[in-house]
Amino acid sequence: MLRNSECRLDGEMQLGNEIQPIEIAEGVYWVGVVDWNLRDFHGYETPKGGTYNSYLIIDEKITLIDTVKGPFFDEMIGRISQIVDPAKIDYIVSNHVEMDHSSSLPAIMQVVPKAKIFSSAKGKKGLLEHYREMGFQNWDIEVVKTGDEISIGKKTLQFIEVVMLHWPDSMHTYLKEDKILFSNDAFGQHIATSERFEDQVEGVMEDAEIYYANILMPFGKQVLTYAEKIKQMGLKFDMIAPAHGVIWRKEPERIIEAYVKWANAEAKQSVLIIYDTMWGSTEIMAKEILYGVESAGVDVKLRNLRKNDWSKMVKELMDASVVAIGSPTQNNGMFFTIAGFLSYMKGLRPKGKKFFVFGSYGWGGGAVKGIEKELTESGFEIVEPGFQVNFKPFEEDREKCREIGSRLASLAKK
Ligand code: FEO
Repeated sequence: MLRNSECRLDGEMQLGNEIQPIEIAEGVYWVGVVDWNLRDFHGYETPKGGTYNSYLIIDEKITLIDTVKGPFFDEMIGRISQIVDPAKIDYIVSNHVEMDHSSSLPAIMQVVPKAKIFSSAKGKKGLLEHYREMGFQNWDIEVVKTGDEISIGKKTLQFIEVVMLHWPDSMHTYLKEDKILFSNDAFGQHIATSERFEDQVEGVMEDAEIYYANILMPFGKQVLTYAEKIKQMGLKFDMIAPAHGVIWRKEPERIIEAYVKWANAEAKQSVLIIYDTMWGSTEIMAKEILYGVESAGVDVKLRNLRKNDWSKMVKELMDASVVAIGSPTQNNGMFFTIAGFLSYMKGLRPKGKKFFVFGSYGWGGGAVKGIEKELTESGFEIVEPGFQVNFKPFEEDREKCREIGSRLASLAKK
């Protein structure tokens, strides 16, 4: 094994020991890694970087909760080594199969081939699919379900399946004596920081909302179900420790309450204008609509798809009650960036939004009709027929756009 400070991963030098393991409660350590250079998480823009959090519990059975993305294995093991010989790990909890949490499993199972792994039933199946050629058949995996508990000595772990938060296999692990919920993807944020707790970093709630909008928005129904389940189980939390970002320790229930609010699609009275432009005509229309909304005293944002971070725009979309989408016509259809954004948005299934479509064309239209068709087929509400101009908006077109803005502002207030 390479020494931490020597391992070369993803083409760059990783300084594995710059952050020490952090004891977050007695005998409970953060042994994860910080991915300072993460800028794209399978298409989700991450301008602040990210972390993959693993936690080590020292008890009669030394237990590792989740692992880290494969290329960072040496860094994680280096951190564990500062606490205990990694060969002494008895148990590994795999809360979620996705590779940012499980792709170090094959390597750690080479260090501790006799360790027992705990996962959900779907988790076991997923691990098989991913690692069947990497020793999986020799792994000792015990399937657990909601309410199951294991004693690891003085401490007890309880498991809670959270199907579709955000994969079918997803699971939380609750450390009863310390009241810590290891929530895996749920309640995370993509932030690279040397701090480990939410109260040490500015603006985490906004980062958590961006994360929710891009990862969990389609699963609002499940969020509400599991929030209720946790309430029924009577669980109390001193900490909520996700697998990404920082740990919630100051009134940690705040993040559960925020999830319930976002899942209930409680939008603000605001309008979001999303557009792209070829020669400026659609941009002129977008700005006139903006002025119309502004004149009515309603909060409005203007976002050119090629100049803005889509992940952040999705959070703004979640916040807005009215969304105007503008596109020039390209090859008899919508502009390619609009097509990409619609595809992304449809997958995230934002709830309770009112849509309006506008655009421009030269020799033949198609963009406005195409966008309206896609929105309608996906079940989104369009508030009035779209507006398109030929070549260039003249004063009467601009005036119409301002009137549209005013009407959209009235809808946002309802
Ligand atoms: Fe953080 Fe679903 O992986």
